[in-house]
Amino acid sequence: MMNQTIINKLYEEALKVREKAYAPYSKYKVGAALLTEDGEIITGCNVENASYGLTICAERNAIFSAVARGKSNFKGLLVVAEGDDLAKPCGACRQVMNEFGDFDVFLANTKGDIERSKVSDLLPKAFGPKDL
Ligand code: THU
Repeated sequence: MMNQTIINKLYEEALKVREKAYAPYSKYKVGAALLTEDGEIITGCNVENASYGLTICAERNAIFSAVARGKSNFKGLLVVAEGDDLAKPCGACRQVMNEFGDFDVFLANTKGDIERSKVSDLLPKAFGPKDL
């Protein structure tokens, strides 16, 4: 179980990396902070492209960075986006999260609201590595 201190730390890191988002088209900046099983925090922001479909979301950027660093066991992921609504990971990101287990996912906004859920809440009846 993750304690409030680490959740707050993930929130701060996600807010910080959100500022680095490259989102000149949507202007919608997103930050993600991933906590690995061994206690490391790895972050990601969305990076858009003039060829819109090449855009990578903050969540996948964080997960792919972690894998590239040899970390693929996760305790939790916090995602923050602007506005009153909590961040809502897209379907592609939910599927990529599911590849790495049923960890906690914290959905947050820039006002400080944070809601805990799990990968399996966001993507029920998912197809995943255990199905192959
Ligand atoms: N985006 C994310 O990075 N994560 C989400 O959870 C939702 C969407 C990005 C992709 C694109 O750069 C912008 O938000 C608008 O879709």
